[in-house]
Amino acid sequence: MALSHIKIVDIFERTDLVGSEVNVKGWVRTRRGNKHVQFVALNDGSSIKSLQIVIDLERFDEEQLKPITTGASLNVKGTLVASQGKGQTVEVQATEIEVYGTADPESYPLQKKGHTLEFLREKAHLRMRTNTFGAVFRIRHNLAFAVHKFFNDKGFFYLNTPLITSSDAEGAGEMFQVTTLNVKIPPRTEKGSIDYSKDFFGKRTSLTVSGQLEGELGATSLGLIYTFGPTFRAEHSNTPRHLAEFWMIEPEMAFYEIEDNMDLAEEFIKYCVQYALDHCRDDIEFLNKMYDNSLIERLEGVLKDSFVRLTYTEGIAILEQAKKKFEFPVKWGVDLQSEHERYLVEQHFKRPVILTDYPKDIKAFYMKQNDDGKTVRAMDVLFPQIGEIIGGSQREEDYDKLMARIEELKIPMKDMWWYLETRKFGTVPHSGFGLGFERLVLFVTGMANIRDVIAFPRTVGNAEF
Ligand code: 4AD
Ligand code: MG
Repeated sequence: MALSHIKIVDIFERTDLVGSEVNVKGWVRTRRGNKHVQFVALNDGSSIKSLQIVIDLERFDEEQLKPITTGASLNVKGTLVASQGKGQTVEVQATEIEVYGTADPESYPLQKKGHTLEFLREKAHLRMRTNTFGAVFRIRHNLAFAVHKFFNDKGFFYLNTPLITSSDAEGAGEMFQVTTLNVKIPPRTEKGSIDYSKDFFGKRTSLTVSGQLEGELGATSLGLIYTFGPTFRAEHSNTPRHLAEFWMIEPEMAFYEIEDNMDLAEEFIKYCVQYALDHCRDDIEFLNKMYDNSLIERLEGVLKDSFVRLTYTEGIAILEQAKKKFEFPVKWGVDLQSEHERYLVEQHFKRPVILTDYPKDIKAFYMKQNDDGKTVRAMDVLFPQIGEIIGGSQREEDYDKLMARIEELKIPMKDMWWYLETRKFGTVPHSGFGLGFERLVLFVTGMANIRDVIAFPRTVGNAEF
């Protein structure tokens, strides 16, 4: 059965309803008016647009209207009419108002407008009620939906890889340990170290930093897979681009070489950006107006041109010749900092860049080794404002070469036996990448801090809510 009330987003579409009785529910954004008539802006989270409720004071008495303050929740019945005022096409002439819950103006934290994003971060339990965070989280939802649609339409299978893992092979970052042992008095082995055989899983386990290694098992069975789930890194990097808990999308494709991988990454990001422009126009326009008036231009910009593709070695040469003084000096072999990545994208090429063939010593063990013995078939996609948005590679499918690298890096073999079997039995060339979902949401919303694009951010020293 349909709900008796109608979502505010739908009201604006339903011209057929003008003249009829409607029932709307939501929270008061503002209330203003005079002795004769009062106007309430009602928002139910379905749209950036609030609906104007017109209250004729001949019909209602002052006492009854007192609890209608910013933040209060209402059930309103009335007639939908074409609006005479500026700023809206329709409004509701109220006939009945029920207050579900009041919001005391003295203590309601969002009583005033114009709070800083820092202040709102402290109020994460309420900030989704603001226009800004409403817009951000509607866009985030649409992007997540676009991710699934893109891969489903291409015949990829959604694979759920484990969140609790016993391998730390990726080496992508510090891991969070998962244990049921008594941390005050853990069981000890004879030698005195902690006896993890007594732990829940009979071994030491952590939260995953990436679903890739299990994703490779999927790709070498199902052909084309993607993961989309939370990943955890106990990183102390307190930057506007790092979270300790973030969501990652990791496609993995059998029979894809590095060029196919780059083509897919570029098509994928462009699809997501286009999807947001097509489905979140009002929210993006709001953010463009309020925070960053080059946002739409930047979004349309990445759709227009093909991404520049160049090798790490070529990238280093450009950076070495740059007039700009970098905080971290560049030379062949160093890991690029976001200042370097952004220089290439924003100053030099003025378009997104896919940088390939990085030195093997700054990349993971599983990347396919090039013939030069120095570089691997890595690819990082670098974006304006963001820096690295995607990291990926063609994978080393040769058992002996992979083993040699594992031994060189002294990766504990007992953790890796299942991974190595993909190379022992029916090995194939394959590739994949990881897109940091919050970095994509950052780019599309134009927000400056990653803490503002995930509802309840986890960063070092912060796990409130
Ligand atoms: O470059 P990363 O570490 O690559 C991997 O984890 C590979 N296993 C991916 C693969 O090939 N399947 O991480 C991938 C992306 C980065 O490019 C970045 O966008 C994001 O994940 N990322 C983070 N986002 C937020 N907070 C962090 N701490 C992040 N670390 C990485
Ligand atoms: Mg990376």
